[in-house]
Amino acid sequence: MIDDTQGKRGRALRVTVLHGPNLNLLGTREPGVYGMVTLGQIDRRLERLAIELGCELTASQHNGEGDLVHAIQRAATDGSDGIVINPAAYTHTSVAVRDALSAVGLPAVEVHLSNVYKRESFRHKSLVADLVVGRIMGFGADSYALGLRALIGHLRGSAD
Ligand code: DQA
Repeated sequence: MIDDTQGKRGRALRVTVLHGPNLNLLGTREPGVYGMVTLGQIDRRLERLAIELGCELTASQHNGEGDLVHAIQRAATDGSDGIVINPAAYTHTSVAVRDALSAVGLPAVEVHLSNVYKRESFRHKSLVADLVVGRIMGFGADSYALGLRALIGHLRGSAD
């Protein structure tokens, strides 16, 4: 029987979840756009899902561009197998975040709570879209859970 909770390295897959600027304000920030769910609630839900999926998960939020770059770089050295990232506003502006993702080369899934294509045109451009395995947006907090499932499916080499 194949134990698909194990990565290629014979241990549980490790996923880094990264939240970009202003996402620490979820719950009070523009609830009409982002909903009422807090970042803590999102992270706890992801932790439960990670247990269900048999993977290890570390989540962190960074307001600074350099901090987010550091966190992406750290994922390459801490044994992470992949990244779920909501770069938030840096999605649309940051060559540094793009370069960091490109440099570490880990499979990544880009997630957004809102459907950026229903919003201002400056949000339609993502500087990381062509680097990531895929993008999930518009499902509120569920975007993260869908993103984690998609990344794990990708890492395990299946489309489930
Ligand atoms: C966001 C969309 C971005 O345009 C915005 O700057 C954010 C959040 C989202 O999750 O919908 O901060 O990434």
